[in-house]
Amino acid sequence: MECKVREEVKKLEKYVAGKPIDEVKREFGIDEVVKLASNENPLGTSNKVKKLMLELVNEMNMYPDSASYDFKKALSDKLKINRDMIFCGAGSDSLINVICEVFLDKDDESIMPEITFPRYDSNTVLMGAKPVKISLKNNRLDLEMMINAITDKTKIIWFCNPNNPTGDIFTADELNKVLCKIPKNIVIVMDEAYYEYVTSEDYPNSLELLKSYPNMIILRTFSKAYGLAALRFGYGIASEEIVDYMNRVINAFDVNLFAQKAAVAALEDEDFINKVKLFNKKQREYLEKQFSEMELNYIKSQANFIMVNVKGDDKPIHEYLLRHGYIIRPGYLLGMPSWIRVTIGTQEQNIEFCKLLNNAIEERDKK
Ligand SMILES: Cc1ncc(COP(=O)(O)O)c(C=O)c1O
Repeated sequence: MECKVREEVKKLEKYVAGKPIDEVKREFGIDEVVKLASNENPLGTSNKVKKLMLELVNEMNMYPDSASYDFKKALSDKLKINRDMIFCGAGSDSLINVICEVFLDKDDESIMPEITFPRYDSNTVLMGAKPVKISLKNNRLDLEMMINAITDKTKIIWFCNPNNPTGDIFTADELNKVLCKIPKNIVIVMDEAYYEYVTSEDYPNSLELLKSYPNMIILRTFSKAYGLAALRFGYGIASEEIVDYMNRVINAFDVNLFAQKAAVAALEDEDFINKVKLFNKKQREYLEKQFSEMELNYIKSQANFIMVNVKGDDKPIHEYLLRHGYIIRPGYLLGMPSWIRVTIGTQEQNIEFCKLLNNAIEERDKK
């Protein structure tokens, strides 16, 4: 090709998403496939949201509200924050990209854990900046080492809490010890995509921290606990000044009509979200108990997925599970060979998954 592609784009690796259900059906010639690979909500979506979506089909010819007014009003009332502290985008994925566009110049640095959500890395590279990756310590974020890596070139520091793919959190105490050491000209991103699932009382209250750290950005999403992954709606909370810059870059109509209306209704349906939280907690405990009984190490999770050690090569385990209609994330794709990440499914799916995992390990170890 004679057209010139930017060097930064050439450096990018293609994002490997969880395998889609239809692809596995085609590849393995099976009819029933369960996807426990992308941390989606096995309970689906609030019925109130579903009903509302059907009522909107006659409004598709109109552009959505580029300011997402109704959503910002609903969220600001709920969280008791100023409406101008909220920005919205087509998934928090797209907002990670915008944060990099707003703050990263060529040769800047952004600090992230070595094993975390891969979009901090790819969007940093896209801007011509350098990802500085800090190893985990005992499978946990090493906050001290992340802070020690700060240089004059550092512009962003990414904290994923709970961290994907490990599912673990860092506590308010752990965070407080390092926050005060971060210079005020560095953006602190708190990616809280899974915060609704957290049950630990030691989880940091980032909204409260925002009052002392105007250089902080909180990211959340409707893709996980609210069960709206297909609609693409993520949002951020930050100082009015940061939000103003973010809004100059975010595409005007990034958040579609369905997503905006769904998000408002989802926020209102407290019964649904409470059911999701309780269900996830119970099933997380169930899976952890099963893993203990199978004598498999796992990382204690505060999210809707668990990282479990399969005591050897994870590739044959992944393949066995695929052949039997279960899609999970193999650790070799996540920088953690011999582990797999499984999304917490329905009770029946979790029972079946444990049976298959047992069989998969047995089959691998026979060879
Ligand atoms: C930690 C984390 N942040 C952000 C995202 C992006 O979510 P979405 O773009 O669906 O809001 C994900 C998705 O898996 C994630 O795990």
